[in-house]
Order: sequence, then structure tokens, then C-alpha cells
Amino acid sequence: MTVAQIAANTTVLAGAAVLAYLGFQFFQKKKKEIIPWNWEEVGSLSHLYIYPLKSGHRMEVTRAECTEVGLKQTEEDEKVLQLRDRGLVVYAERNNEFRTARTYPQLMQIDISVHDEKHLAIDAPTMRTLYVKIPNNTDNKEIKIKLHKGEECYSIDCGDEAALWFSRYILEKDTGLRLGYHDGSQRRDITKTHNKYLEFYKNLTNSSIGLYSDLTSLLLVNQTSVNDLKQRISNTTISANNFRPNLVVDGLDLKPYTEDNWEWIKIGDVVLRNVKDCTRCTMTTIDPDTSIRDKNREPLATLEKYRMSNGPDALPVMGINLEVRKTGIIKVGDKVLVSKK
Ligand SMILES: *[C@@H]1O[C@H](CO)[C@@H](O)[C@H](O)[C@H]1NC(C)=O
Ligand SMILES: *[C@@H]1O[C@H](CO)[C@@H](O)[C@H](O)[C@H]1NC(C)=O
Ligand SMILES: *[C@@H]1O[C@H](CO)[C@@H](O)[C@H](O)[C@H]1NC(C)=O
Ligand SMILES: *[C@@H]1O[C@H](CO)[C@@H](O)[C@H](O)[C@H]1NC(C)=O
Ligand SMILES: *[C@@H]1O[C@H](CO)[C@@H](O)[C@H](O)[C@H]1NC(C)=O
Repeated sequence: MTVAQIAANTTVLAGAAVLAYLGFQFFQKKKKEIIPWNWEEVGSLSHLYIYPLKSGHRMEVTRAECTEVGLKQTEEDEKVLQLRDRGLVVYAERNNEFRTARTYPQLMQIDISVHDEKHLAIDAPTMRTLYVKIPNNTDNKEIKIKLHKGEECYSIDCGDEAALWFSRYILEKDTGLRLGYHDGSQRRDITKTHNKYLEFYKNLTNSSIGLYSDLTSLLLVNQTSVNDLKQRISNTTISANNFRPNLVVDGLDLKPYTEDNWEWIKIGDVVLRNVKDCTRCTMTTIDPDTSIRDKNREPLATLEKYRMSNGPDALPVMGINLEVRKTGIIKVGDKVLVSKK
């Protein structure tokens, strides 16, 4: 072979490698983008909830924008700033670790609203209203808040006045807790911390993840499955709200827990992908309106008897965690369509 021939062969090989790589990339992308066409109507959207503060009180809405990182108020509701699901989180000053209602059930009593173009209003029983300047990363300190499994999450600190208010309300002290804000400008990266999950849940990726949600951008609960659980406990004070869903779907009664088999869900223009069963912890045993823990660990204790996940958590399941594949507006009363693919 002459030098020219070798050069030519190398070019061909390199070209082939590039093509193969691009083809692979295309295939990968393509695989992700095939949205099914065979939809089946299973019910309708009965409730929509946004939790502006992680572990905080729910905000019920009749419509919401479904973004890649979860639900957001629409501009009709709030002209100045639209609150996002789990866009705020309480964290410990000492080590920047997030805090939830698992340790501080009083968090569930906190309501967040938009006060004016510059301030959020934060309310809790026995506390005066706190007005927090809507933080931004020029005026406020950028920090990394540690979430589950030590995952570090981009955040903006809300300042000393908010820190004082939260420390007083939760700890009855002047320091200890601070408030973090996520402006949605960065996505989370779970590839270093959640390997066990990524290996087991094949459809779960970085793009499934919400702002400060435990993992995915959305949680859907089927009312029929909750009704079945309530019957088993014979306690009527337990409701879908114990499970802190974003979407509650109600439909005709067939047999419980069919949502486990839904691979794809379509509500209006929005297309969602089932990426994970939602494993449940002791937070479900705290009454979401009074913050009182159930003495008998219900509804978790009953759920443990018949609905354990076979995934890495070995915890009981209620609801499905969804990735947003096509964004848009969703409304209470919208038809819910599913595809098993
Ligand atoms: C940050 O907030 C301050 C005070 O509200 C405001 O003056 C400033 O314009 C904001 N910066 C950005 C980049 O939004
Ligand atoms: C998401 O995951 C990939 C690895 O699959 C990684 O390279 C990337 O940096 C991650 N982070 C974000 C924010 O997308
Ligand atoms: C995830 O993806 C695989 C194929 O890659 C599929 O077989 C599986 O059913 C999907 N769904 C869920 C919820 O894991
Ligand atoms: C909820 O569960 C019931 C009972 O399994 C089922 O009939 C219904 O299709 C499910 N889905 C919706 C959207 O309600
Ligand atoms: C029902 O649940 C509520 C709240 O979890 C609890 O306070 C109450 O004691 C329970 N009642 C019965 C009869 O188990």
C-alpha cells in the first residue's frame, strides 16, 4: 500500500466510524422520541396539586402548565411569578442538607403565595406572614443543597430573614434552618448518586427529574387505588392527599392498580412516560392537614402487606413517577388516555 492509499483507507475508516456514531446517536434519540398512537381512554383528571415548598402544604389548582421539571402555575393565575412544584426547600445551615416533613411534620402547614412582583408571602399557623424577596443569583448567594443520597443540587439561598422565620417556626431557635430556591435554570444530575435506581428503572434518566422533588417531575395517583386501600384500613380520614400527588386520576372501576401497567399517559397535549413506581415512606402516615402522625403507621402498614416494590427500595408502592415528554397546559376534567405500547 502506498502512503496515499493508507491515508485514503484511514479516511474511509474514520468516516465510517463517524457515520456509525451518528447513526447510533440518531437511533438513541429516535428510540426516546417514539410516542405511541394507540391510546385508550381510562378516566379523567380529578385534581391538580402544586407543592411550592418541598414538604409544604398543597396548592390546589384547576389548570397548570406541565413543564419538563413539573407543574407550574399559569399566567392567568399569577401574572408576576408563576410558582413551580417543589421550587423551594428547607435546608440545614450546618451541612446544607435538605429537611422534610419526615423530621419536621410542621412543614406541611406552610402555605406559599405570590405577594407582588418582588415578594413571596409565606404563612404558617401562629407565625406572622413572612415576605421574602424573590431571590435571584445576582443578589443572593448560590449554594449546593444536599438532597437524597448526597446528590448536590444547584440552589439560591433566600436570605437571613427567611432563615430566622423558618428556624423559629420549626426549631423555636434563631438559627439552624435556611430556605433554598430553585429558579429552574439548571437540571439535576443523578448519574453519580442514583446508580442503583438507574440500573433497575431503565427509563429513568436525568431528564426525568424535577426541581426539589424526590426524583421525578410528576407523581400520578389513581383514586381507585386509594379507595381500595382506604377500604382495607377502614379509615375515612386517609385520602389521596396522604400521598402528595400532582395528578389524581379518577375513572370507572375495573380492578385496582392498573396504572402500574401504563407505559405512556396523555392528558390534553401533554405526554408523560411512566419511569418508576413510587415507593412510599413514613411521610404518608402524617395527616397532611394537621401534621399529626398516625399511631398505627397507617396507611403505610397496610400498604406494606400487599404492595411492595420489587425495585431497590423494597418499600410499598402507591402511584407512578412520570417524566414529561411533551409539555403543555393541563386542566381538571381533561380526559386521561393511556398506552401500554
Ligand atoms: C435581582 O433582584 C434585585 C432586587 O429585587 C433586582 O434589582 C435585580 O434586577 C435582580 N436581578 C436579576 C438578574 O433579575
Ligand atoms: C446527565 O447524565 C449524563 C450521563 O448520562 C451526564 O453526562 C450529564 O452531565 C448529566 N447531567 C445533566 C444536568 O444533564
Ligand atoms: C422501560 O423501558 C423498557 C424497555 O427499555 C420497557 O420494557 C419497560 O416496560 C419500560 N417501563 C417501565 C415502567 O419500566
Ligand atoms: C384507575 O384504576 C381503575 C381501577 O383499576 C381503572 O379502572 C382506571 O382505568 C384507572 N385509571 C384511571 C384513569 O382512573
Ligand atoms: C384514622 O386516621 C386518623 C389520621 O391518620 C387517626 O387520627 C385516627 O385515629 C384513625 N382512626 C381509626 C379509627 O383508626
